[in-house]
Amino acid sequence: MRKLRDRLILVVAFAGAATLAAPAAAGALQPAVHHPGGASVHATPGAAGAGDPYFPLSGNGGFDISHYGLDIAYVPATGKLTGHAVISATATQNLSRFDLDLSGLTVTSVAVQGERAKFTRTGQELVITPSDYLPRGHRFTVDVRYSGVPRYVQDPDGSADGWIRTDNGAFVASEPQGAMTWFPANSQPIDKSSFDVTIAVPKGYQAVGNGQLISQRSTASTTTTHWQQRQPMAAYLATASIGKFQISSYRADGMPVYVAVDPREAKASAPVLAKLPEILAWEEKVFGRYPFSSTGAIVMHAPFVGYALETQSRPLFDRAPDESTLVHELAHQWFGDSVSVTRWKDIWLNEGFATYTEWLWAEHNGTQTAQQSFDQLYASPGSSDLWSRPVADPGSGEFIFSTPSYSRGAMVLQKLRTAVGDRTFFRILKTWASEHRNGHGTTAQFTGLATEMSHQNLTALFHTWLYTAGKPAHA
Ligand code: ARG
Ligand code: ZN
Repeated sequence: MRKLRDRLILVVAFAGAATLAAPAAAGALQPAVHHPGGASVHATPGAAGAGDPYFPLSGNGGFDISHYGLDIAYVPATGKLTGHAVISATATQNLSRFDLDLSGLTVTSVAVQGERAKFTRTGQELVITPSDYLPRGHRFTVDVRYSGVPRYVQDPDGSADGWIRTDNGAFVASEPQGAMTWFPANSQPIDKSSFDVTIAVPKGYQAVGNGQLISQRSTASTTTTHWQQRQPMAAYLATASIGKFQISSYRADGMPVYVAVDPREAKASAPVLAKLPEILAWEEKVFGRYPFSSTGAIVMHAPFVGYALETQSRPLFDRAPDESTLVHELAHQWFGDSVSVTRWKDIWLNEGFATYTEWLWAEHNGTQTAQQSFDQLYASPGSSDLWSRPVADPGSGEFIFSTPSYSRGAMVLQKLRTAVGDRTFFRILKTWASEHRNGHGTTAQFTGLATEMSHQNLTALFHTWLYTAGKPAHA
């Protein structure tokens, strides 16, 4: 992440002008500096996107968000959301103007540093012009008030993503683009932030977010819950899912567990959810310390969604999960949530690793070895999808969540394991999780680590299994 960000700043600096003002001390909170003449300062607009070719308009340039404070009220019966976002950010260039991602909804006011700011909307961009430019390194707050009926986005693969209304609430899962459907966001995993989310719903409903439950209070008409995710989180992993749930809240090994289940899914999910502490303890043994300070699950009755998401610290399911789906989403807490992708083309670092964890769980259970899972896939006839794309760059949005990222990604790890041996392989996984904890990783960093730790030349293996489309001639 560091490298990438430095590179972005550098590019901006060159593009900016030779007359950049000296950066303000980072971390100091100061009012926007007003330069009456403005002659010596060259401030430019932040880019509309973060530069990821898979989702060019997701994210924004010119600043980095450290914290989101979201205050949301939602009425399931009408689908109406009222939101107030207070965002803390740092300018990474002299910023004359900047964007946040926001899709649909009506913005009623924007303030920067407490001062009213001009704004316009174009497509998914909320374009904000502060009254004064923001110097590079300067910390600032953005305050956005908005409301409306959120509409999910339709991904290129046909899935809905974002705020998805259900028959009694909302399934809120935003990978990869949907954060902008319910809050103004820097919607790119490169920018991770802490979150405080407060959600007010009519009495009888519950809202469940990420991290710790800080408070819950009810009036005659409304229940308001405050959720806090302290460890940095990518915007797509934030949730505020709403329904009428059965709640169980307990501690496992000292860690708070909060599980919310739609009663219609209670019977089917009970035996699987009962295994959550055991699965988590096993994953800690294999991957190292769990990266967050709370856990749990949200089980909705929304089977039309068709997928689950590893919402940070508290995975979200569209129906009662089976055991391997729970294993998968919990594995993502290490691989995907704590260690985030730098670019979406690295998605196998999430999905390949989570799928491989399902294989390891089956091996641990004595169901079948990971090698057997690998062999089955290799031998399966007509699974051309599996071989259609290189794992390390599966292609545009349409392919991002297809079998090359998942199954073929897991096959890469099995190939690596047989090449380097169990001892080294599991040390590589643990080191990957700890070295990039609460940060980012790239495919090149992973292959570099594997090469370094195994003292082997793995070039051919990665060339064939990671970077080349088509079925390899040998398993
Ligand atoms: N990361 C999710 C998983 O655990 C899948 C999300 C799919 N999202 C989508 N828009 N297709 O597999
Ligand atoms: Zn996954």
